[in-house]
Amino acid sequence: MIELNGITKYFITNKEKVLVLDDINLMIEKKDIFGLVGPTGSGKSTLLRILTGFMSPDSGSIVIQDKQLTPTTKYAIVRETSMIFQHFNLLSNLTVLENVALPLKLRKVSKLERLQKAKEVLGFVGLENFSNEFIRTLSGGQKQRVAIARAIITQPQIIFCDEPTSALDEKTTFEILSLLKKINEEFHTTIILVSHDISVIKSMCNKIAILENGRIENIITNKISEFKPISYLEAFNHAE
Ligand SMILES: Nc1ncnc2c1ncn2[C@@H]1O[C@H](COP(=O)(O)OP(=O)(O)OP(=O)(O)O)[C@@H](O)[C@H]1O
Ligand SMILES: [Mg+2]
Repeated sequence: MIELNGITKYFITNKEKVLVLDDINLMIEKKDIFGLVGPTGSGKSTLLRILTGFMSPDSGSIVIQDKQLTPTTKYAIVRETSMIFQHFNLLSNLTVLENVALPLKLRKVSKLERLQKAKEVLGFVGLENFSNEFIRTLSGGQKQRVAIARAIITQPQIIFCDEPTSALDEKTTFEILSLLKKINEEFHTTIILVSHDISVIKSMCNKIAILENGRIENIITNKISEFKPISYLEAFNHAE
C-alpha cells in the first residue's frame, strides 16, 4: 500500500521557483496496477523519483508498506521496490546474467546463489538462452525483458515503471505488458505505470490518475480493455 498526502515539490530554474507537484494525494492498494498519465512536463517522473526515495518532497508525507518514508527509513523501503525505465538502464559491459544478478551482488548475496537466482528469473522472462550475451547484441524488447528480470530478482513488493514500452514497437509493447501483468498476478506485485500512451494505460491499469501541471486532475477506476497491437501488414492493407 502506498499513501501520498499533500506532496508538493518546487524546482529552482534561472532563479525562478517553479511548482512542479502541487498537493498530490493518492492511495495505491496492494496488487493495483496504477496508471499515471499526463502530458510532457506534468510531473510524472518527478513523482516517481520522490516515491523511490531519489528525491525529497518540499512538503507532504508518504507511507509505503505501512512505513513513513523519511531520510532514515528510505533505504529499508527502497529495498522492497524496483524500477523499470524507458531506456532499460542496463550495463553494457556486463553480460545478461551479470546485469540481472547485480541487485543481489549489491546485497552481498553469494555468487553461486545470485547466479542461480538470475538464471531462474531469466527463465521467467523467457530469456534462459541469453545468459552469456552482452547487452549490445539484444533487441529493445529483449533488453526490457532483462531489465524486468533484474527488477524481480529481489522479489519487490512494488515495481515503478517509467514509460517502459515507449521505446518499443506495438507487438513488443504487447509482450512486455503481458509480462508485467503476469508478474502482478503471480507475485501480487503492486505496479505503478507511467505512460503517455492511453491504450497502454487502459489495457493495464485498474486505477488511473491524470496529472496536469503538477496537479491530479482526476482519478479514474478503469475497466481494463484489450491492448491490440496492429501488424504492419494489417496497417498497410487498410492503406490506399
Ligand atoms: N532536476 C530538475 N530541475 C529543474 N526542473 C526540473 C527537474 N526535473 C524536472 N524538472 C521540470 O519539472 C517539470 C516536470 O518534469 P517531469 O520530468 O516530472 O515531467 P514528466 O511528466 O515526467 O514529463 P515526460 O512525459 O516528458 O517524461 C518539467 O517542467 C521539468 O522541466
Ligand atoms: Mg517523465
